Amino acid sequence: MLTAYDFSMARIVDEAGIDVILVGDSASNVMAGHETTLPITLDQMIYHASSVVRAVQRSLVVVDMPFGSYQGNSKEALSSAIKIMKESGGHAVKMEGGQEIIESIGRILTVGIPVMGHLGLTPQSIYKFGTYVVRAKEEEEAQRLIDDAKALEAVGCFAIVLEKIPAQLAARVAEMVSIPIIGIGAGNGVDGQVLVVHDMLGINNEFNPRFLRKYNNLHEQMMQSFQSYIQDVRSGDFPNESEQY
Ligand code: KIV
Repeated sequence: MLTAYDFSMARIVDEAGIDVILVGDSASNVMAGHETTLPITLDQMIYHASSVVRAVQRSLVVVDMPFGSYQGNSKEALSSAIKIMKESGGHAVKMEGGQEIIESIGRILTVGIPVMGHLGLTPQSIYKFGTYVVRAKEEEEAQRLIDDAKALEAVGCFAIVLEKIPAQLAARVAEMVSIPIIGIGAGNGVDGQVLVVHDMLGINNEFNPRFLRKYNNLHEQMMQSFQSYIQDVRSGDFPNESEQY
């Protein structure tokens, strides 16, 4: 799984053969420049998701339910999920949290909307955690995470993202539940992996967590391209004879 937030990127990600495209609320960070994922709205998520859906031929498109769109009560959660499905054309939603949101997940599932869970580091709760460090290192929190994963499976989630937890714990969870576990910073004992596309392409050269493998250095390549363009325009080299009518 990889994230995408716009038509052009989603088209390439889909063509490359990625199974699942996540329209993550990380759009709040990488697209809008916010410090957290909290500010992004339901309508903004729908805008990103519908752009992605228009590009996709084969991938499953999962859309993050943004902060504030499902935590209030299950009725509100259901109407947010329905709005996402109706207006974006996405195929499933993702929600952060465990037993505390089970009722909402159950209600969304009853109308036929598939739900992906998300446990471990859940960025929408950053002000509760206070930091983005690895979660569930202590036994008590690890046990709560295991219980939450079992509850998400029991209610009917089709997969769970585990973010930034010890690899051993993630592997234990993957063995305990039968639905796919998709990890980010959760080691390789799980069933799948997810990365934020801007991070794995190396667009942001200031974000270098241990779990991130950069498959490119687009920051440098884009910088070089933009600087070459500036130079070519200033020098009169661009456009040349074959680049004009
Ligand atoms: O919003 C997002 O991109 C995510 C992934 C990091 C799993 O939730």
